Amino acid sequence: MRLIHSTSDLKEHLAAERSKGLSIGTVLTMGALHEGHISLVKRSIEETDLTIVSIFVNPKQFNDPADHDLYPRQLEKDIGSLKGLGKIVVFAPEYNEVFSNEEDVVVDLGELDRTMEGSSRPGHFDGVVQVVYRFFNIIKPDVAYFGEKDRQQLLVIKKMVAALNVPVRIQPCPTVRSKEGLALSSRNALLNEEEKQRALLLYRSLSYAADNAYAAQPEDIINKVQEDFSLNTAVELEYFKLIDQDTFQEIKDWNGTENVVAFIAARIGAVRTIDNVFLKK
Ligand code: PAJ
Repeated sequence: MRLIHSTSDLKEHLAAERSKGLSIGTVLTMGALHEGHISLVKRSIEETDLTIVSIFVNPKQFNDPADHDLYPRQLEKDIGSLKGLGKIVVFAPEYNEVFSNEEDVVVDLGELDRTMEGSSRPGHFDGVVQVVYRFFNIIKPDVAYFGEKDRQQLLVIKKMVAALNVPVRIQPCPTVRSKEGLALSSRNALLNEEEKQRALLLYRSLSYAADNAYAAQPEDIINKVQEDFSLNTAVELEYFKLIDQDTFQEIKDWNGTENVVAFIAARIGAVRTIDNVFLKK
């Protein structure tokens, strides 16, 4: 495994590897790696010849400065958790290595930027688009692996790639959970055991939606979840929505809908957490 901090060093290294005909996979992260990230890295190692794992806490995507300051940083430990997995280059650049003088790209994200993570975190997806676009430009990967845990982000990235004709295949990967169902997240490191137990209400709500989808009325599912949260004041529900993934509109009934996803966001103390599940027919 190799650790590279500079963009020009990475480009040079990749040019040499590419000239041998190697295919390149990438997993972009903000570090504080957990089994969710590792599942993406393993998939990339299985499917490509060389995997670039980026570790960069992107200030442009934090709409809340406190969230940025609190975000866990642990490069040494992260490198340790990648050791022995396969042929990996860790790219851990400083801000100026990523954001040089180039202008920002403009992508119309439409409804994706007007609801849920879009409306709750103004500027967040634009910050994600800018950093992912630059990483794609530097790494020029054949395949990039993204988690369904952040499904709205995944759809934003697909839209950006299509709009700007970026030659990369975007591979979605399933959400990795604790055995009780809590979606693994770097921010979970900021929760104590009691708060982690409380956070299971998110997964219970999504499971309730999955179990009752296409049977109970969408409105009744939403009411039940809101009621559960009103009884549990330690976890503050921000939104719970049943969304048609193709139009990104909330569904009113199940007619004519194929790809419905239940999305949730809630706060446990200072920590904001999100999750979603696809509702199978
Ligand atoms: P980060 O939150 O570190 O996540 C990096 C990648 O890991 C994302 O594709 C995310 O969806 C995936 N991931 C996180 N938790 C997961 C889980 N429990 N199961 C499966 N995959 C999971 O997402 C970002 O960083 C940033 O926005 C980034 C794309 C790096 C741009 O800065």
